[in-house]
Amino acid sequence: MNKNSVIFGDCLDITKNIDSGIIDLIYLDPPFFTNKIQKQTTKDRSKILSFNDNWKNCDEYADFLFLRFVEFQRILKNTGSIFVHCDINANHIVRLLLDSVFGFQNFQSEIIWTYKRWSNSKKGLLRNHQNIYFYSKSKNFKFNFIYQDYSPATNIDQILQQRKRDEFGKSIYAKDSKGEVIISECKKGVPLSDVWDIPYLNPKAKERIQYPTQKPIALLERIIKIASSHGDLILDPFCGSGTTLLAAKLNNRNFIGIDISQEAVKITKERLENPIKTHSVVLHKGRDYFLNQQIDLEKYLFGVEFIPVQRNNGIDAILKQQFNNAPILIKIQKENESLYDAYQKLQQAIKIKKSQKSFLIQTHSDVHSLLNNFDDHRISIVKNLSAVLESEKIFKNGTSSYLDS
Ligand SMILES: C[S@@+](CC[C@H](N)C(=O)[O-])C[C@H]1O[C@@H](n2cnc3c(N)ncnc32)[C@H](O)[C@@H]1O
Repeated sequence: MNKNSVIFGDCLDITKNIDSGIIDLIYLDPPFFTNKIQKQTTKDRSKILSFNDNWKNCDEYADFLFLRFVEFQRILKNTGSIFVHCDINANHIVRLLLDSVFGFQNFQSEIIWTYKRWSNSKKGLLRNHQNIYFYSKSKNFKFNFIYQDYSPATNIDQILQQRKRDEFGKSIYAKDSKGEVIISECKKGVPLSDVWDIPYLNPKAKERIQYPTQKPIALLERIIKIASSHGDLILDPFCGSGTTLLAAKLNNRNFIGIDISQEAVKITKERLENPIKTHSVVLHKGRDYFLNQQIDLEKYLFGVEFIPVQRNNGIDAILKQQFNNAPILIKIQKENESLYDAYQKLQQAIKIKKSQKSFLIQTHSDVHSLLNNFDDHRISIVKNLSAVLESEKIFKNGTSSYLDS
């Protein structure tokens, strides 16, 4: 079987011809047991794309999946994993089947993919999530840790201060021999949880090609990054419009896609020729980022790797890197705040957080403040932080190096 191919046919027949133990990762988004024909009209309204999701009963659906899961389990490498996408229509069936084929001991996670979607009021709660079951073939499965930024509402002490367990096993802040808090090493962020807030493709998204139930590339990229490495082989046996294959291609993985619809195979091949991905600001910054910010951090910290800080008078952000194993604090002068007031608030924060290097971003000139002394060597007053960091050779854009004095 050729790598990087899109194959027309029933995935049961095709996977029977794949050698055992050669696939690193399988993602599948099969029909969900909605008992409908799923259809969408193309953007230019020239045709209707569809696939059939009608079944005699749930036994027929379960048998259909079971036979295919057995083949998928056989062709996975020992270090491989499978991610099965479903929703409330059949998640109870899917999970039992996966337990029986892959073993309950190989269940790793139930991922809840949540998104905002508005709909006409139907009696009951609005459904805003789908389920993705993650099973490994063995205990020895590939897993790459992913960290997310702290929520902007996280207390800054939790990010900066070292913690330890007390005699009752309770987590408390560690203190040194003088009773002072200990600043922890630069933390990577919060390990990714099993609830993923990734926007659904909006009807105008460039990435959207109107394939019924098309999934966002961002969702597939996350799965791929968690459970595979460069050069690995990824299979999507129900590839539809080829979203998994695009995500694999964009992330330097090899892929095989299968679909029983000629139209789907054609669309997938076309998309692979010209991959288009929608950039989601909500995904990269998080919804809370927009809700909580009173000042436009992006405007002043463009190009700088930072963690936003909320509910703190003296600090608006901290840099992701440290200086002499201590945090670098950022304060932005507010519209109705004098430079000297801002300076004093930052000084106070520096004392508590033990920072040795911090920045005050001046946003407007204020003549009265110039009469005061700005002689604290730990504070640099700057107008363009990004340019200053560049000239001071403080690393930007995701490098993990630390600056030593
Ligand atoms: C939910 S869609 C997949 C959508 C896809 N994840 C995307 O982002 O475009 C399910 C696909 O499974 C295909 N399919 C249904 N039965 C199949 C089978 N036995 N073998 C292969 N593909 C099948 C359908 O044609 C449909 O394209």
